[in-house]
Formats: sequence, C-alpha cells, structure tokens
Amino acid sequence: MRIAVLTGAGISAESGLATFRAGDGLWERHRVEDVATPEAFARDPALVHRFYNARRAKAADARPNAAHRALAALASRHDLVLITQNVDDLHERAGSRSVIHIHGSLTRALCAACAHRWDAPAVMSAGDPCPACAARAIRPDIVWFGEMPHHMEIVWEALAAADLFVAIGTSGNVYPAAGFAQHAGRCGAECIEMNIDDSANARDFDRRILGPASQTVPDWVASLGA
Ligand code: APR
Repeated sequence: MRIAVLTGAGISAESGLATFRAGDGLWERHRVEDVATPEAFARDPALVHRFYNARRAKAADARPNAAHRALAALASRHDLVLITQNVDDLHERAGSRSVIHIHGSLTRALCAACAHRWDAPAVMSAGDPCPACAARAIRPDIVWFGEMPHHMEIVWEALAAADLFVAIGTSGNVYPAAGFAQHAGRCGAECIEMNIDDSANARDFDRRILGPASQTVPDWVASLGA
C-alpha cells in the first residue's frame, strides 16, 4: 500500500512546540507580517532572526514523541512518503529519512544573494556573511508567506500515486497543503484526518480520528499491521 502522510504543527505540540493558530499559538503572540514574510525580513532582519533563533533553540530542546516514532516505524513496513509543514527536525530525530519539508527547515540557512544553503548555526544574525559569497544577506531556510513551498512537484506526484492519504495535526488553513486531501481523494486515495479538534477542511476526508497525535498515530500505525 502506498501511503502519503502530511504532518502539521499539531504532531509536535506534545513535544512542547507551540502550534500557530491556538489561543496561545505563535500567531497570537507575533504578527505574521512582522516575522514571516520577505517584507518583514527586508524591514527588520534582526527581529526576524531573533524570532527564528528562539524557535531553533526550542526545537533543539524538544524531543520527538510517540507519533513521530510511529511514523518512522511505519516507513520500514510500507511505501511511505512523509511530507511535513513543520520546520522542526523531530521526524528526522525519531528516525524518519527523506522527510519532505515543504516549508523549509530551522536547521538550514539560505543566502538571499546567491541561494547557497548550509547547516544553520544555533544563532544566526543579520550581519553574518554567507560562507559561499560573503554577502550579508543570510536568512533562515524557511518558506515565508508569499513564497513558493519547496518540492511541490514530488509532492503532487506522491499524492496522485497514494492509496491512502493521512493528514495529522494540521488546521487546513494554509495552501497548498490544505488542498492535498482534495487532490489525493480525486486521484483515488482514501483520506484520513487525525486531529485533536476540528479543521478547516474536514469535509475533504473520508474518515476522521479525533484525539492527541501521540495516541492516535501509534494506534493507527499498529492497526495497519505488517
Ligand atoms: N494532536 C493532534 N492534533 C493537534 C494536537 C495534538 N496533540 N494539538 C494541536 N493539534 C491540531 C490543532 O487542532 C490544529 O488543527 O494541530 C493543528 C495545528 O494547526 P496550526 O497551528 O494552524 O498549524 P499548521 O496547520 O501546521 O499550520 C500550517 O501555517 O503559519 C503557517 O507555516 C506555518 O507550517 C505552518 C502552516
């Protein structure tokens, strides 16, 4: 069985990382326009670096939970494509390989001048030179609002080929990811949603499994068998 899984901030919530749209979420405490757009970075790069330095530190301190581990185990038994909107590396640290990060990654840095990419240091700052071209234009390798998500060609193909599409811990508010269930469903996949609460695109799924990801995901993986 070919399985495509999409994860969102909800899968890392029980590892202690804030989601975006909850009452105490990141977008309650920060305005998207101040920290997560190219315009914000052009206006105040120091503020944007501070925001992502803090998130990088939080992510480094967090540990993968049972949901991340269950997905890593699933890959050894099924043909799995794991797509995430998350910029943390908890899937990798749980043992998943080839994770497709469509919104980029906190562990990587990008030069806005020459497009060179490298492993991000724990603390990035606006004045640091790019290791390749020395321009002082380094930024987190994160996809901001208004920018193109990464690896979309591979993702659309994986969704079209999937027998089963599962979205875990995502509110279904941000496209293109919010449209993945519709695409996979039209191409013939069964679509399952796992969330602790209602999502914006619940109608696109054939089945919903309500509950915390650290319980629902291991249970679902166990139910698939070998
Ligand atoms: N188990 C399962 N689901 C959970 C849990 C949990 N323990 N805790 C929270 N959730 C669910 C919430 O109900 C919500 O639907 O996770 C979802 C988190 O939604 P968002 O905060 O909107 O995160 P996400 O969908 O990943 O956001 C998408 O928005 O701002 C951008 O780039 C950012 O990648 C992010 C994108």
